[in-house]
Amino acid sequence: MLAYHPQTMHSYLSVRNRSHFMDWDHQPKQFKIYPQTFVRIPLDKKNPEHRFLYLIGGITAQKSYPGMTYALRTNPSAGALYPTEIYLQIRDTKGFVNGIYFLSPQESALVLLHPLEEEEGVENFLHVKRVSGFIFLFSALYYRSSWKYRDRAFRYCLHDTGHMIGTLEASCTLSDKSYRILYGIEKKALNALFGFGAEEFFLSSVLVGEEDKNVTCKALSLQLPYVDGTGTFETNERVEKAYDETCELSRKLQVAMPTFDLDKERLQQAIWKRRSIREFTQKSLLKEEFLEVIDFITQPIPSDCDVDIEIYAIINRVEGMWQGVWKEGVYVESGNFARKAGYLCLEQALGEESGVTFFLVGNDALNYQAMVQKAGIIGHRLYLISEYLGFGCSGIGAYYDEEVAAFLKSDGMVLYALAIGR
Ligand SMILES: Cc1cc2nc3c(=O)[nH]c(=O)nc-3n(C[C@H](O)[C@H](O)[C@H](O)COP(=O)(O)O)c2cc1C
Repeated sequence: MLAYHPQTMHSYLSVRNRSHFMDWDHQPKQFKIYPQTFVRIPLDKKNPEHRFLYLIGGITAQKSYPGMTYALRTNPSAGALYPTEIYLQIRDTKGFVNGIYFLSPQESALVLLHPLEEEEGVENFLHVKRVSGFIFLFSALYYRSSWKYRDRAFRYCLHDTGHMIGTLEASCTLSDKSYRILYGIEKKALNALFGFGAEEFFLSSVLVGEEDKNVTCKALSLQLPYVDGTGTFETNERVEKAYDETCELSRKLQVAMPTFDLDKERLQQAIWKRRSIREFTQKSLLKEEFLEVIDFITQPIPSDCDVDIEIYAIINRVEGMWQGVWKEGVYVESGNFARKAGYLCLEQALGEESGVTFFLVGNDALNYQAMVQKAGIIGHRLYLISEYLGFGCSGIGAYYDEEVAAFLKSDGMVLYALAIGR
């Protein structure tokens, strides 16, 4: 069993005993900004390829508090801390110079980091041949999250990156593009190639394009400056060790694509309007809605390392269904567990007042990075389908790990909780 997961469990006592203070003077920056010497390509939302990119983590709302404005995005993020950054290679795509880019949400622009020479590319680091189209690379600037969540932050970096892949999946669905996730990439070599400091590391890659199996690319030579993406970085050894220990994984190919039967206009609205619900009215969901949600979130996710995730649903308020603990079409236990679900989510009302509170559980410690990112992707699908069907969702990263597992009678790792409802 990977040490990191149990080391970062919440319990009733740990939450109360931990002397945790927020060091507001050291709040990390939310945006990484490359020097202005790099060319910017502003994203024009009327251009279909630009819009495709904009919807992957782009800003869709602003929220202001005294002294602080948060830019809210197509992806949710634990604590609105947004550790995930996006780099991409674009090749043979009309309107773009072949190159390595950074997708800058604050500037709403692509930043050209390096024009590609003939047949040069990142492909070798991904163990693929020449790709025409887009290759996305997702990294986490972990201190943005560990500043608040300390050791547990590695989990949130993985969830958040999963959500970001979820925004990519949604944008691909709108643009009729197919995609494939690669977790088995040369992460540490890429970290060095992109000039990262210890605070930033790659977690995954997504191909959106055609691979030409006959052409091997030349190694990419990048000379990028170090750019400080947090401003106040402090090392977290447990997070760095967890990353280090989980970079290797075994391959379990999933080639099937999801088949989403969605109205494009409504999907587009859902992507733009997606927000985390802050409070439920406690009105019930309908059984048909619940079943549509389950069908949507259990569609295949194409990747080179597919991990089984068990989906438990605590049915609190669904018209036409008994209350109880439901797993893959079967009731594990019947009864009203709403209050218990709220307690398990660190006494958050969201868990109690929802229509359904989900717990995602996995058991594949050897593929930890792929597993927790997949939980984030499923979480993102939950957000989107809820918005699409006219209700709401919230991710819940804080829960009493061992008590949840005991309640579910599971010996797996509890990876993520989410609540949906009206
Ligand atoms: C991994 C993850 C964990 C989260 N955990 C919680 C939580 O425990 N409680 C909560 O109220 N919101 C939680 N959220 C929701 C975030 O607070 C929310 O996404 C963020 O404030 C941005 O707002 P938005 O989703 O409306 O854009 C979580 C989100 C994510 C992605």
